[in-house]
Amino acid sequence: MSTHSQALRDRKDFIGFEASSGDEIRFLLSHSAVVKARGRRGPRPLAGKTVALIFNKSSTRTRVSFETAIVQLGGHPIYLAQRDLQLGRGETVADTGRVLERYVDAVVIRTYSHDEVLDLAKSTRVPVINGLTDYNHPCQILADLLTVQEVKGRIDGLKIAFVGDFNNVANTWAVACEKLGIAFSAGCPEGYGPGEAVRRLAPSMAVSADPRAAVAGADVVYADTWVSMGQEEEKEKRLSIFKPFQVNGALMAAAKPDAIFLHCLPAHREEEVTGEVMDGPRSHVWQEAENRLHVQKALLELLMGEG
Ligand code: CP
Ligand code: NVA
Repeated sequence: MSTHSQALRDRKDFIGFEASSGDEIRFLLSHSAVVKARGRRGPRPLAGKTVALIFNKSSTRTRVSFETAIVQLGGHPIYLAQRDLQLGRGETVADTGRVLERYVDAVVIRTYSHDEVLDLAKSTRVPVINGLTDYNHPCQILADLLTVQEVKGRIDGLKIAFVGDFNNVANTWAVACEKLGIAFSAGCPEGYGPGEAVRRLAPSMAVSADPRAAVAGADVVYADTWVSMGQEEEKEKRLSIFKPFQVNGALMAAAKPDAIFLHCLPAHREEEVTGEVMDGPRSHVWQEAENRLHVQKALLELLMGEG
């Protein structure tokens, strides 16, 4: 077993990139490319194993790609909406973790509080994989990086520009780029930029209140929704504040001529991105969405496979 797969296995959980080295992230990407090339015909390291998927927020990609990944690896997924669990009626996440480890071989969780994921990981002996919290979304950024690698042929030496609300997706990009030594810039309105903790974790990132400055020289322009899950009540206010941060043809023209557009999805056309960009030739969002499946198969195999 390589040192990187051993380190991933020793850590047990996949919750973010904070504990990873740049080389470990590169290893995850190269293993994801191998898994993708194998397609459905690969080995079945999850045969006889069960994975619980706790979802406390909506999901299309994360849920379906994880369930499919688990089945393609020979395992069995159990989807658990939090409201259907006793967790939804006040049982603690730690007690839930202590019980689940007696039935299942890993847990994927999507929820609001990042601390809830950390508590679950601490309370259970089986691997816990983060499927998005209010703080981060590491499986997404692995898929994004794989897409950049495929489209651009490399990740090193590139500049990634995030435009919009500096939230969970941007937090994860910032930390991953810092680890990888890749240039990362963000264009966000005043008051919607990175928090102190992420600034400390990613001291090399550039932040601007001018989206054109943020995308200048960028190889990748990235957008996320302006209204994340849990912020629905702020929708009207946010749509007006973020308006100047829309990724449109004019903003793409301020990036490198061969810059590509990525979006974690779901997208809101004519809000954070115009249909022209989203559905245009520089957009690689469907390949990016597909890559969720491949990187998660690689992760599951590394964390749960026999050897
Ligand atoms: N990008 C992403 O995580 O999509 P879902 O919310 O549909 O899972
Ligand atoms: N920032 C978005 C990402 C969705 C994948 C949200 O948290 O809703």
